[in-house]
Amino acid sequence: MSDSIILGIESSCDDTSAAIIKGNCILSNIAANQAIHKEYGGVVPELASRAHQQNIIPVVEKSLTKANIQQNAISAIGFTRGPGLLGSLLVGTSFAKSLAMSLNVPLIEVNHLQAHILAHFIDDANPMPPKFPFLCLTVSGGHTMIVLVKDYFDMEIIGKTIDDAAGEAFDKIGKIFDLDYPAGPIIDRLAKEGNPNAFTFNKPRMENYDYSFSGIKTSVLYFIQKEVKKNPDFIKENLNDLCASVQRTIIEILMAKLEKAAQELNVKEVAIAGGVSANSALRTAMQDNHEKLGWNIYIPKFEYTTDNAAMIAMVAQLKFERGEFTDMRISATAKYDL
Ligand code: KG4
Ligand code: ZN
Repeated sequence: MSDSIILGIESSCDDTSAAIIKGNCILSNIAANQAIHKEYGGVVPELASRAHQQNIIPVVEKSLTKANIQQNAISAIGFTRGPGLLGSLLVGTSFAKSLAMSLNVPLIEVNHLQAHILAHFIDDANPMPPKFPFLCLTVSGGHTMIVLVKDYFDMEIIGKTIDDAAGEAFDKIGKIFDLDYPAGPIIDRLAKEGNPNAFTFNKPRMENYDYSFSGIKTSVLYFIQKEVKKNPDFIKENLNDLCASVQRTIIEILMAKLEKAAQELNVKEVAIAGGVSANSALRTAMQDNHEKLGWNIYIPKFEYTTDNAAMIAMVAQLKFERGEFTDMRISATAKYDL
C-alpha cells in the first residue's frame, strides 16, 4: 500500500468526524458527537446538519493537529457521499469539495456501508485482515445485512432486514424502557447485571438470510403494557433482566442467519461491522463460534464500530491507489447501494 496521506470526512448521520490516514495506518480519528438529539429520543435531521456545520472546521483542524500534519501534505480528500441523511451528507460533501479545490488535490467519494466493512483493513483493526471471500454482518442504526465480500469493491448483499435495523430495535425498545437515545450501549451495559433467560420475546420466521426486527419491538411493547397495568414499577424492578433478555433475543436472531449463511456458503472467514458490532453479547457469540465452528473471526476495535472517519479514510486510500477519483460536480445521495 502507498504511503500517501489522506483526509477522511464522515457526516452521514449525527457524528461529525475527520481522520488522517497514512498508508493504512490511522494518525488521527476525531469525532464530535451531537448530544442535542438525546432530548428528542432520536436524530432530528435539521438539527444534525446545523451541528455538522458548527463542528466540521474544528474537527478537521483537530485531526490535522493530532496527526501533526500540515494541509499541504494531504494527497487527497475522501468523504461520505451516502447513504445517510441528505442534509448531513451535504455538509461533509460541500466541505470536502471546497477543501479539495483549494488544496488542488483529488476528491474521492466513499460509500458509508463499504467503509464500515473495509474498516477491517486498517492496520490496527486486526492482527491479520480478513481473507476474501468473507462474510460481514453489517449492523447499525440504519442497516442490517449479511454481505458476501468477494474483494475490496466486489460485495454482494445476501440478506437484509425487511423493516427495522437491529440498532433501531435496540433504540426503539430502549425508548419503551425510558432509556436515553441511543439505547443500544445502555442496554448492553444494563444487560450485564441481568438474566438473559428471564423473559421470552417473539422471534421472526424469515426466508433465506433476511431479517425482521419490528416483531420483537411489538412483542416487547405489548408485554410491557400488560405488566405495567399490574405493577407500575415493573420496568424499574426488572430493567436488568429486560435488557438482558432483549439483547439475547436480538443477538440470537442475528447469529442464526449468519451461521446459516456461513454453513451453506462454506465460508469460515466471518466479520462484524457497524455500530451494533460494539455489542458485548454479539462479540461473545462470535468468539463462541470461533471455538465451536472454527470460524476465523474479525471484530472491529470500538473506535471503528460506530460512525467514524477512519473507515472513510481507509476506503479513500484504497481508491486513491486505484486512481478512482471523483468529479467535483458530484452530489451527496441519501440512498446508496453497496
Ligand atoms: O454505525 P452507527 O454508529 O450509525 C449508523 O450508521 O446507524 O450505529 C449506531 C447504532 C445505534 O442504533 C446504537 O444504539 C447501536 O449502533 N449501538 C449498539 C451498541 N453501541 C452502539 N447497539 C447495541 N450494543 C452496543 N454496545
Ligand atoms: Zn454507520
